[in-house]
Amino acid sequence: NKKVSGPPDSEAREIQTAAVVGAGVMGQGIAAANVKRRIPVTLGDTSAEAIARGVQGVITEVSYNKETKKPDAQRALDFLPLLNGTENDAEVAQADIVIEAIYENAEAKRALYAKLEPQLGEQAILCSNTSTIPITELAHGLEHPERFCGLHFFNPVRQMPLVEVIRGKQTSGDTIATAVAYAKVIGKSPIVVQDGPGFLVNRVLLPYMNEALLLLESGASIKAVDKAAKSFGMPMGPIELYDTVGLDIALHAGKVMHEAFPDRVVPSKILPAMVEAGRIGKKADKGFFDYMTDSKGRTK
Ligand code: 3HC
Repeated sequence: NKKVSGPPDSEAREIQTAAVVGAGVMGQGIAAANVKRRIPVTLGDTSAEAIARGVQGVITEVSYNKETKKPDAQRALDFLPLLNGTENDAEVAQADIVIEAIYENAEAKRALYAKLEPQLGEQAILCSNTSTIPITELAHGLEHPERFCGLHFFNPVRQMPLVEVIRGKQTSGDTIATAVAYAKVIGKSPIVVQDGPGFLVNRVLLPYMNEALLLLESGASIKAVDKAAKSFGMPMGPIELYDTVGLDIALHAGKVMHEAFPDRVVPSKILPAMVEAGRIGKKADKGFFDYMTDSKGRTK
C-alpha cells in the first residue's frame, strides 16, 4: 500500500487487475487505457455480440501504430493476453477495481451493483463512470458504500486526460486515494470533486451544449455554431461534440440535469427527435453529421 496525494490519513490500495462492465464506446476506451499500461482487464457485458464488438474495439485501439498510422498485428498479439471479455459476473468481480460503464439509468446501475457487490473481494473498490447521476444516490442499497465512488472519464478516452473522482457521502478516504492513484497509473489526470448532478464538468458542459441546440432551433446553422465555437478556441464545436459523446448519452444526461435544475435547463426538442431517428452520433456513423467507418474500424 502506497501513500498518495489523496485525502489526509488515507491510503491507496494497489490495483493489479481491473474490470469494466459495459463494452460500449466508453467501456472500450477505459479498458484500452488499462491494457496500454499493462494492467490486465476484464471487459464484461450481457451478450456475446456486445463483448465481441467491445474486445475488437479495444484491440483496434491499442494496436494502433503511431508511425504507420495503422493497426499493428504484433502489438495486437502482445496486448491480447491482457484482455478478457466475459458475460460472467464472477469473473468481473475478481478484479481489484470494477468500473461500471453501462447506460445512464440509476435503477439498472443499482441492479448491477446488487449482483456484483457480494462477489467482490474485501479490498476491491467499485466505481461508476456515470456522467451525471449523484454517487450518493447510486450508493443506495450497497452494503459497502465506503468502497464506492465515481470515476468519470471523458470521450474520447484515449485523448482526454481528465478523470473526475467523485466522493459520495459515504465514500471513504482510502477509496478516493485508491481511485486517484489508479487514474494516474492509467495515464489520466484525476481531480476529486464533490457529488451532485453533473458533478463539475457536466454542470458546465451540458448547459453549453444544450444552448447550442436552442440556437439551431431559433434558426442558426450547424456550421455557424460550430465555427464560432472553434474560432473562440474550443477544440471541437458543440454540435460535433454531440456526435462524439453520443446523442443517446447526451439525452439521458440532459434529463438528469433538467430534473435537477428545472429553472435553468430548457431541454431542446432536437435531441429526442435525433435519437428517435437513430442518428446517435459517430458510433452509429450518423448524427448531426454523416461519418464513414472503414474496414479497420476508423471513423472519418
Ligand atoms: N492510438 C494512438 N494514436 C491514435 C490512435 C490510437 N488508437 N488513433 C488515432 N491516433 C492519432 C492520429 O494518428 C493522430 O495523430 P497525428 O496528430 O500525429 O496525425 C492523433 O491521434 C490525433 O487524432 P485526431 O485527429 O482525432 O485528433 P485531434 O487533434 O483532432 O483532436 C480531440 C481530437 C482530442 C477529440 C479534440 O477534438 C477535442 O478535444 N475535442 C473535444 C472533446 C471533448 O470535449 N470531450 C468531452 C466530451 S464530454 C464527455 O465525454 C462527458 C460525458 O459524461 C458526457
